Amino acid sequence: MGWKEYVGEILIPEDKLQARIAELGQTISADYEGKDLLLVCVLKGGVMFLTDLMRHITVPHSIDFMAVSSYGVAARESSGVVRILMDLSTNIEGRHVLIVEDIIDTGHTLAYITRLLRARQPASLRICTLLNKAERREVDIPLDYVGFDIPNKFVFGYGLDLDELYRELPFVAVLKPEAIG
Ligand code: IMP
Ligand code: MG
Repeated sequence: MGWKEYVGEILIPEDKLQARIAELGQTISADYEGKDLLLVCVLKGGVMFLTDLMRHITVPHSIDFMAVSSYGVAARESSGVVRILMDLSTNIEGRHVLIVEDIIDTGHTLAYITRLLRARQPASLRICTLLNKAERREVDIPLDYVGFDIPNKFVFGYGLDLDELYRELPFVAVLKPEAIG
């Protein structure tokens, strides 16, 4: 029992993930030099990415969290229905906001979040996603920083869950086709 029975393949091993995250951190540090940067992490999936990414961001920055739900346990498809479970604790007006997400799939979740945050008048609003499933996009959203473009397969690990489990894995794995239920 455990995660091994669900792994079809390791899509992105730990060393590749960490190398790319270090690069993203360097790029972001250069882009936000001298700016008041706030990283907004979308819970729960973005949490591993946030904590690793911020270790590579050398400009002063603060962090905040918001939680949304786009679909329930077991249904592995985004419904387009987004609910705010927890809002930010910071006023983002006039701040340079960078949203840190685990994965963009249909784009509905991010489209909703950006609309909501833009209305609060940040100085700038950009998106950094670790994974991008471009093939699945239903809503067009400009992505400023992308870790990896991935194929249209259900993935888990490194923050992403399989029915709320296995977020702790240090790599991104593809779910075995036989295990899709
Ligand atoms: P979107 O609204 O379709 O872009 O869905 C985005 C959200 O769906 C992500 O923040 C994830 O929580 C979840 N999600 C989409 N694809 C996957 C996947 O392959 N594995 C795990 N979660 C996923
Ligand atoms: Mg997410």
